[in-house]
Amino acid sequence: MSTAKRVRTAILISGRGSNMVALIEAAKAADFPAEIVLVAANLPDAGGLERAAAAGIATASVDHRPFGKDREAFERALDAELQAHQIELVVLAGFMRVLTPWFVTRWQGRLINIHPSLLPDFRGTHTHARALEAGVAEHGCTVHFVVPELDAGPTILQAKVPVLPGDDEASLSARVLEQEHRIYPQALALVASGAVRLEDGTALGA
Ligand code: GRF
Repeated sequence: MSTAKRVRTAILISGRGSNMVALIEAAKAADFPAEIVLVAANLPDAGGLERAAAAGIATASVDHRPFGKDREAFERALDAELQAHQIELVVLAGFMRVLTPWFVTRWQGRLINIHPSLLPDFRGTHTHARALEAGVAEHGCTVHFVVPELDAGPTILQAKVPVLPGDDEASLSARVLEQEHRIYPQALALVASGAVRLEDGTALGA
């Protein structure tokens, strides 16, 4: 066992959590610089919660719906869970809530996301359909620091895949997802170890 202190990390999800599983698996290595101590979801029936519990990780669900339009009130409840678990780093993995500047600023430099496109191309949703529609030859995924502007934070790691003749949304998203599962653990390790950090709006070391 490594004696280095591992960074206490939470993963936030809304759905099935395949990236979450890849991160949990990677973090089992004794020399991985992050420890996954909490998985939290904004939907109590997010499939990933069961998978996290099965892996022996603490779970929390903070349903955003009772908070209505008050995004910050929801985030304060979520933040309370993060504080209760002494979280140092927050990883968004298919977390489908737009975060307010309050939350993003609070976790600045300690909040990362994976987006299924080669940012700055195709910010927002339905990235695979839009890539096919645009007829691009290459597509992929990006891990980035989160900043208040949506999908606009500095890149930590990117992976490219070809768009092949006959691709549809399902085949393209599967090809991208495979790369997500590969680079997200790598990117988390880079940030948790301090090899890459957010400084003056850039990802230093990336
Ligand atoms: C991934 O494609 C991720 O890039 C996007 O949402 C999807 C989540 O998938 N933000 P999963 O829940 O990790 O399987």
